[in-house]
Amino acid sequence: MTLTADQTVEALRAAGEPTRLRVLSLLAGEELSVMELSRILDQSQPRVSRHLKLMTDAGLIERFPDGARVYYRLSHDAQARRLIDTVLDILADDAGEADHRRLDEVRKDREEAAAAYFEQIAPQWDRLRSLYVSENAVEAALEQAAGPGPFERVVDLGTGSGRMLTLFGKKAKMAVGLDLSQNMLNIARTNVSKAGLDKVELRHGDIFATRLPVHSADLVIVHQVLHYLADPAAAVAEAARLVSPGGRLLIVDFAPHDFEHMREAHQHRRLGFADTEIAGWLKEAGLTSFAPIALPPDREGLTVTIWTGERPAVPSAVQDRKTA
Ligand SMILES: C[S@@+](CC[C@H](N)C(=O)[O-])C[C@H]1O[C@@H](n2cnc3c(N)ncnc32)[C@H](O)[C@@H]1O
Repeated sequence: MTLTADQTVEALRAAGEPTRLRVLSLLAGEELSVMELSRILDQSQPRVSRHLKLMTDAGLIERFPDGARVYYRLSHDAQARRLIDTVLDILADDAGEADHRRLDEVRKDREEAAAAYFEQIAPQWDRLRSLYVSENAVEAALEQAAGPGPFERVVDLGTGSGRMLTLFGKKAKMAVGLDLSQNMLNIARTNVSKAGLDKVELRHGDIFATRLPVHSADLVIVHQVLHYLADPAAAVAEAARLVSPGGRLLIVDFAPHDFEHMREAHQHRRLGFADTEIAGWLKEAGLTSFAPIALPPDREGLTVTIWTGERPAVPSAVQDRKTA
C-alpha cells in the first residue's frame, strides 16, 4: 500500500518539528510512556502529549493504554515506517545524542530497580508466584499446550527459581534456564538438583540477547517475565528465533488488568497483555498462533493467559531436497 499525496503531506507535517523528531528518534529505540518521554525531553507532560497526539493522528506512532499509563511506539504500518526511517536516516548522527543519553539513564534506573527487586525477592519467589494464581491449573494447562514431548531441548527464558525446568526437565534430553539474577539462578540450581535433573544447564544471560543458536530448541518458555520488560516485542522475537521447525514457544503472562500497585510494589512495567498484541508479535516472528488459553483466578486476582506459537515444520519435499 502507498500513501496518497495528502497523507504524505500530513505525515511529513506531523514529523516536521524539532520535538517531534526527537520523539521519533527515541521511540525507534523502544516503547515509552508519556512520563518517561517528558523526563527525557525535559518538557511538561501536557506539552509532550500534544506532540504525541498529532503524530498519532497522522499515523506515525501508536498509542496504547496500559492500566492508568499510556505508552507510545512507532507505527507498525510499513509505509509510515519507511517515512520515519528515511527522516531519521538523514539526521546527523549526533542529533539526538543528549536525548539518548537521558534515555539510557531512564533505562538504567528501571533496570537497577528491577534487578534489586529480583535479587531481594529470590528466596520468596516460589511463595509469591503461588499467591497470584492457582499454580496447578496453570501448570496442567502448560503441559497440554507444550504437547506430550519428549523434547530435544527446552529453553526457559527468565527462569527465576527454575520451576519450568523442574516441570519440563524430565521430558527433555537437555534443558537450559537463563536469567539475569544470580540469586535466582542459585535457587534454580538447588531446585533442579533436588529434582534429580542432571541435563539442565543454568546460564546468566539476557532475554534480549540470549546468544543461543537459532532454531535450537523444540520448546521455549517465557513464564511470567514479559510484564517486567521494556521491550516485550523484542523479547518475543528473540525467544521465537530459538524455536526449531515444528517446535513451540509458550508465553505465560497476565491478561490486561488494572492493579496499578503492581508497578511500584513488584516492578511490573506492563499491566498484562492483550491477545491481539501477543498474536501480532508471534506472527511477525514467523510463528503460527494457537487459540490462547485464559485461566481466570479462583478468587479475586489476576487472569493468567497462555499464548502458544509454533514454527511451521519444514515441508517434507524441502526436507528431502536438503538431505539428498
Ligand atoms: C517473576 S520472575 C519469573 C520466574 C520464572 N519464569 C517463574 O515463572 O517462576 C521473572 C524473572 O525474569 C528475570 N528477568 C528479568 N529481566 C530479564 C532479562 N532481561 N533477561 C533475563 N531474565 C530476566 C528475573 O531475574 C526473574 O528471575
